[in-house]
Amino acid sequence: MAHPAFERSRANRALVRVALGSPGVAVRDLYELYPDFVIDVRAEQAALNDHAAIVLQYPIYWYATPALMKEWLDLVWLHGFAYGRGGEALKGKRLLVACTTGGGPEAYAPKAMHGFPIEVFLKPMEQTAVLCGMKWEKPFILHGAGVKSPEALAQASERFRKRLCALTEKCGR
Ligand SMILES: Cc1cc2nc3c(=O)[nH]c(=O)nc-3n(C[C@H](O)[C@H](O)[C@H](O)COP(=O)(O)O)c2cc1C
Repeated sequence: MAHPAFERSRANRALVRVALGSPGVAVRDLYELYPDFVIDVRAEQAALNDHAAIVLQYPIYWYATPALMKEWLDLVWLHGFAYGRGGEALKGKRLLVACTTGGGPEAYAPKAMHGFPIEVFLKPMEQTAVLCGMKWEKPFILHGAGVKSPEALAQASERFRKRLCALTEKCGR
């Protein structure tokens, strides 16, 4: 999870709460772990090795991940680890992107504010999964994050809980 201003977050905070309460899920808050962007590559690779599914949770910033998550990908998903010769650490794992957007679903369409469906902006992540031999899961998208009522956030949280439950195959209820 990466959110550069988590103290002001509503949507990602709600989703993290769900993740923390989900059996079999370990949460790594990248901005808390690495506020100065000095990433412990070995620790991150070990955490990836330990899990059969990886969830990348973040608010969409300029149609992409926040900067630290990109840095994390650049430094941790290395040749020889994630891809290329000898790079099979992520092979067969599932990858779920869980992101929140300011724009509502109607804004992610041709001629609308953001011009393209959200899936188009997630293509680099999808192809990253393919290159690393991972299984790409249908992304979890929480649109219109800034204007969601507490009830709508609770509904989205429940939707996320079910996705994590299916991903971990550890359904608590
Ligand atoms: C620097 C920055 C860039 C953003 N870029 C986008 C964007 O490209 N598309 C979009 O829909 N929302 C964009 N937003 C809005 C955030 O995605 C939105 O505030 C966030 O998902 C809300 O989640 P939170 O409550 O966890 O902070 C941007 C916000 C910031 C601060």
